[in-house]
Amino acid sequence: MDSVFAPNLLAGKAALVTGGGSGIGAGIAKLFAHHGAKVALLGRTVQKLDAVAAEIKAAGGIASVHPTDVRDYPALEKSMNDAAAAFGRLDIVVNSAAGNFLSPAASLSANGFRAVIDIDLCGTFNACRAAFTHLAKQGGVIVSITATQADVPTPLQVHAGAAKAGIAKLTRDLALEWGRSGIRVVAVAPGPVEGTEGMSRLAPGNSADALKKRVPLGRYATIEEIAASVLFLVSPAAAYVTGSTLLVDGGTSLIGAGPFLDMMGL
Ligand code: COA
Repeated sequence: MDSVFAPNLLAGKAALVTGGGSGIGAGIAKLFAHHGAKVALLGRTVQKLDAVAAEIKAAGGIASVHPTDVRDYPALEKSMNDAAAAFGRLDIVVNSAAGNFLSPAASLSANGFRAVIDIDLCGTFNACRAAFTHLAKQGGVIVSITATQADVPTPLQVHAGAAKAGIAKLTRDLALEWGRSGIRVVAVAPGPVEGTEGMSRLAPGNSADALKKRVPLGRYATIEEIAASVLFLVSPAAAYVTGSTLLVDGGTSLIGAGPFLDMMGL
């Protein structure tokens, strides 16, 4: 994999990526492994995790697989402990597990709203909490993947917007509390990203072309571009960065919720 960074930026480090079986999480895990990190892949579907682990190993990297739902705290804590024990340390945790769908707020069930809050916001807290003792041993970094919906009022996205805004606030609060423990806590907010389940759910069919035309940079991000921004944040180049959410959206948030308004006929 080509990279703008020097090789083996993460040699000697160990990372755990939730949602590591697909999409942005898988891309981050592969880029970390390419840079010499040992990578623990955590997610609900073992077949997806196995496929990413096989790809990393085929390229000469080291990966372990931890089938776990981030909503299940005891299981998550066990997986975190297993990964740290197997690698002898844990330096980096990436929260990429997420759930989303389009739904008008007026017809969204309470359970539907809660399902997304549980996966995105509670799942992120669970992973941070379970990682703390491991990261505090030698210092470390937590990166959570949020979304532009956290800041941009967006129809059909009340559940995801609330969850991602919560993650951005959690990021700032944990950065404040855990800085003295040597732990940086940061986030990345992508706009539309090519080849992810999220985008096929949020911009199905023709709406993808309409959205691409309106993105200031004129295209979706690649998964590799999002992974590169996460690599920057976990690298020594970002050693003084904590509490921030880095927008990596090609300018999408500058145009507001336009494409979603189109979907609602507004
Ligand atoms: N529109 C409205 N409500 C929906 C919905 C949709 N498209 N999809 C699910 N829900 C509701 C369900 O109806 C249910 O509520 P109810 O019990 O009142 O009927 C609630 O959400 C939970 O659904 P369920 O399928 O039981 O939850 P789950 O825990 O199995 O799955 C989801 C969680 C809903 C987020 C599911 O879409 C998921 O697992 N997504 C992961 C992958 C993903 O979203 N990737 C993109 C990330 S950006």
